[in-house]
Amino acid sequence: MTVYSEVSADGKSVHRRNGSSKDMMVFEDDAVKKYRHELRARSDAIMVGSNTIRLDDPHLTVRNALGTSPLRVIPVSTGDIPPTSNILRDGGRTLIAVGASAPLARIHALRQAGAAVLTMETEQIDLTMLLSHLYSLNIRSLMVEGGATLLAALFRARLVDRLIVQHLPVIFGGRDTPSMVGGAAIAGIDEAIEIRLSEVLRIGGHAIISYQCK
Ligand SMILES: NC(=O)c1ccc[n+]([C@@H]2O[C@H](COP(=O)([O-])OP(=O)(O)OC[C@H]3O[C@@H](n4cnc5c(N)ncnc54)[C@H](OP(=O)(O)O)[C@@H]3O)[C@@H](O)[C@H]2O)c1
Repeated sequence: MTVYSEVSADGKSVHRRNGSSKDMMVFEDDAVKKYRHELRARSDAIMVGSNTIRLDDPHLTVRNALGTSPLRVIPVSTGDIPPTSNILRDGGRTLIAVGASAPLARIHALRQAGAAVLTMETEQIDLTMLLSHLYSLNIRSLMVEGGATLLAALFRARLVDRLIVQHLPVIFGGRDTPSMVGGAAIAGIDEAIEIRLSEVLRIGGHAIISYQCK
């Protein structure tokens, strides 16, 4: 699994808490947009957390490069994804993984909107189980594009193979502005997740830094 994250030079994943990372795109040049979409085109599936769908309403398709759009995968225990979301309106493939207690009316509405819905056996989405299911669907490469809550769970479960950080040449600041990985603070330095630098690229006006995580 590859995590791809866009951050400001001061490490923020959005310009303000509960803001939309779509607003950050004005600091992205065409060369890096093409690079990111080429990576999408080389992935069998792309995943984001449910809050990213609610706040950003992304398409998660390949538009700035040649290639096929990957299967979109959204984990959401409550099934709370608006059926009017862009991922359900453009005719592409979307799989929504819901928890065991997700209301049937929501599941029905998502299916009506064209999504495949996978109901997990647990209340919360077990990400390891979800990855096993994706494997059974022949998904061999998965790109995860945030947000910070989902990334925290994936890193904590040691499910990430590769991290690619795209730096935007801009500074947002803000004491409470989220950074790339959220979740609870670690209790001590021994809980830090060590990763290894593997590549540093310059694409357009952006630094792209890749790390091996396993
Ligand atoms: N810079 C970037 O690259 C980038 C990329 C994407 C998003 N963003 C920004 O990030 C923000 C959204 O991030 P976020 O941290 O609020 O939310 P998020 O990570 O997008 O979504 C978190 C939600 O995913 C659902 N989820 C289901 N299973 C989960 C699991 N096992 N572990 C963790 N979450 C699980 C949970 O909702 P349920 O309780 O409903 O299950 C959880 O609240 C937005 O401001 C967006 O603009 C930035």
